[in-house]
Amino acid sequence: MSTQYASRQKQRIIIFDTTLRDGEQSPGASLSITEKLEIARQLAKLGVDIIEAGFPVSSPAQFEATKLVAEQVAGPTIAGLARANEKDIESAGKAVAPAKKKRIHTFIATSPIHMKYKLKKTSDEVLKMAVEAVTYAKTFTDDVEFSPEDACRSEMSFLIEVLTAVTEAGATTLNIPDTVGYILPYEYGRMIARLKAEVPGIDNCIISTHCHNDLGMAVANSLAGVRNGARQVECTVNGLGERAGNAALEEIVMAIQTRADFFGKGTENELTTNINTKEIHRTSQLVSRLTGFVVQPNKAIVGVNAFAHEAGVHVDGVLKERSTYEIMMPETIGLSGSRMVLGRHTGRHGFTNRCKKLGYKLTEEELERTYQRFLQVADKKKEVFDEDVAAIIDDEVRMVEHTFELEYMRVLIETGESPTAIIKIKSKEGIKEAQAEGDGPVDAAYEAIRVATGYSPKLESYSIRAITSGKEALGETTVKIRSDGRTFAGRGISTDIIEASAKAYVDAINRMVARKDAGEEPQIKAEL
Ligand code: KIV
Ligand code: ZN
Repeated sequence: MSTQYASRQKQRIIIFDTTLRDGEQSPGASLSITEKLEIARQLAKLGVDIIEAGFPVSSPAQFEATKLVAEQVAGPTIAGLARANEKDIESAGKAVAPAKKKRIHTFIATSPIHMKYKLKKTSDEVLKMAVEAVTYAKTFTDDVEFSPEDACRSEMSFLIEVLTAVTEAGATTLNIPDTVGYILPYEYGRMIARLKAEVPGIDNCIISTHCHNDLGMAVANSLAGVRNGARQVECTVNGLGERAGNAALEEIVMAIQTRADFFGKGTENELTTNINTKEIHRTSQLVSRLTGFVVQPNKAIVGVNAFAHEAGVHVDGVLKERSTYEIMMPETIGLSGSRMVLGRHTGRHGFTNRCKKLGYKLTEEELERTYQRFLQVADKKKEVFDEDVAAIIDDEVRMVEHTFELEYMRVLIETGESPTAIIKIKSKEGIKEAQAEGDGPVDAAYEAIRVATGYSPKLESYSIRAITSGKEALGETTVKIRSDGRTFAGRGISTDIIEASAKAYVDAINRMVARKDAGEEPQIKAEL
């Protein structure tokens, strides 16, 4: 093997990241020059071996971005893509020139369908162009990669002929693209094995995979290639790329690491990568944020649910022994731990555990009360967050006696009419119902509460905030009421902001009444 990577460590899988080139070709994923630079810097931190920074001839911005990355990003080799013609190669050569380690990646299609319809060239012409491209690229850098585009739909004999010729011309990496994501893992593995066996001089080159995901096989195909002798994998962060994307970098790396047993662990053939896996999550987030491509929740490795557990049985299992339901440690990719999602599937054990983690020491009875309330909230919300749990506990396990309880409320809002609230308040005396109108729904509810409780303290302040995000987030209302020169605060939470508002007001009245019961008469006269 002739390249710097191969000579250093025979079994290292070279990670060739093409997020900034093939990934950026995803419809709608265009990045500014500074965004590309930011991603390239993060890729260097991640430890990728090669960054394909762009396709320089395709636009002045692509040229600039590639050049800037070559100038400013130290560590990885910087590659520029070029079709098999002088103009492209010259542009790529100039763009990567400032890099300490530089590569030109040149390509030409070899499949009958591409040669006939796209290139309108014979196979002899394509063969000649491929050799000339590699020869010319070698005048800019010794590190030249050649790709027979649409290799997996090319005729094997022609593919071998082209690869043999470019190897003789000095190509150091032979990339085998499944351009249209057509091949299946077994076939791809066999193809790599055959090329390795039949292309003279191929052992002096690195064989590379470049698999697209049209059939969802990109990662499986790449790994099949690796198993059969490929030592470079071309991939992108979050699997970005043309159409269904490329092989996802994070999946390739974590598969090689997690299934080291399959990839020769403990033998001289053990495969490794140079990736600092702790940077995986951060890199994924950055790419997602800058491209605007949201990572699907169930995406392997980097999806928000990849290390999340909600079902009672799973949470219970993971709390007892993580490996029951986790094959990788979330910390390995830079997360602080697994995410135990509280939701309607969470059992008592998971809920109790979370309360303890949040520092609450609850009695059995308090726990039961809080858990029942949690179940009600979980029924309305997809996910219950720690802040929700804290708010529920605060709301349920309180010192103040509940003189009044909001039993029922209904608010009618009609265009052109004043809102009307119907409220039922429960107390020792039974249930009292009241109806009132107001300037707005909260105002109407508060008026009805005053009538039902018989207390009319002055409302000093009112504020509302979402405790958690999302359409069904919990809203928390805080009110302050004033009576006899003293202020009483009340808090209410609910997924319904008017209900939260009503609860807060009743809560504040309860606190005021508690003081009255302690011997002080509150002001009863309406002051609003
Ligand atoms: O998919 C492909 O064939 C490519 C080549 C340019 C390598 O991206
Ligand atoms: Zn591609």
